[in-house]
Amino acid sequence: MNYRERYNEYAEEFNGVLKEFCNNLDCRPEILADSLRYSLELGGKRIRPVLTYSVGDLLGVERKKLSNFALAIELIHTYSLIHDDLPEMDNDDFRRGKPSNHKVFGAGNAVLAGDGLLNTAYSLLFKECVKGAEYISAASFICDCAGIYGMIAGQSADLLHEKDTSYNEPTLNFIYENKTAKLITAPVAVPSILCGGKHFAELKAFGRDLGCLFQVTDDILDVEGSFESLGKSIGKDGKEGKYTSVNLRGLDGSKLMADVLAERCRGILEGIGGGNEFLLNLVDDVRNRKA
Ligand code: IPE
Ligand code: IPE
Ligand code: MG
Ligand code: MG
Ligand code: MG
Repeated sequence: MNYRERYNEYAEEFNGVLKEFCNNLDCRPEILADSLRYSLELGGKRIRPVLTYSVGDLLGVERKKLSNFALAIELIHTYSLIHDDLPEMDNDDFRRGKPSNHKVFGAGNAVLAGDGLLNTAYSLLFKECVKGAEYISAASFICDCAGIYGMIAGQSADLLHEKDTSYNEPTLNFIYENKTAKLITAPVAVPSILCGGKHFAELKAFGRDLGCLFQVTDDILDVEGSFESLGKSIGKDGKEGKYTSVNLRGLDGSKLMADVLAERCRGILEGIGGGNEFLLNLVDDVRNRKA
């Protein structure tokens, strides 16, 4: 099986888990369930669950230990996108090829859909915690990555620096490492935590570098990508002076940085060894992605 087939297989396996979750949503009023399903089922690359499953395979962690963690992380990620698109944040009208949640359900309902996804993710994580100490550690790690020492901090800094007219590396790194890399580190680190910390330090470093690479390429695609393949508006970062790699380093400088980060990711994976081929291909995929 080649890389692409493997990726799709992991993503499809996760989509089955997500489908079951969506089918079992039974909250009232109906608009609440509809708004959650709308954003969850829209699609998306599912890179975070693919990472959890593939790192799980690398470390030999059983799938049934991983699925609820992968689901919780994707719920948190989806909530972050709904809120990120709100008029008071990035004001984006499209997500995953369709109108953003707030364009369909209104801003109030979109805030609640995001809150609902976050709460439900935590409820799933709490239920995992009864299974043992390593499950508690994994759940706690995810919470830290999502919260005020993670994604929220990055999004807060992203907003704070929105109107800056000059850019510097430490601020950009803080934004990248928190708003994006923490929620890429969580899915990579969880399988390690669940098997007693195998390669934990290396995988944490891999998650940080891959997350930063993912955001550099997101910023590059905001300039060079297309709505058709990305499913979201392009050209907004430049227009609105967002704190991006492209605004700091230019397009060529950002591509060079992406190469450096991809090389660092490969180096870490080579250090880990074992069946790392899928993840090596995934690094190239993120470096060269068009979607
Ligand atoms: C978008 O994440 C937000 C960033 C961190 C750049 P993804 O590009 O993973 O979004 P989906 O899940 O595929 O829609
Ligand atoms: C995403 O950064 C960070 C999140 C935590 C959602 P962006 O604002 O660049 O993501 P897109 O381009 O809207 O997907
Ligand atoms: Mg944003
Ligand atoms: Mg945005
Ligand atoms: Mg972006």
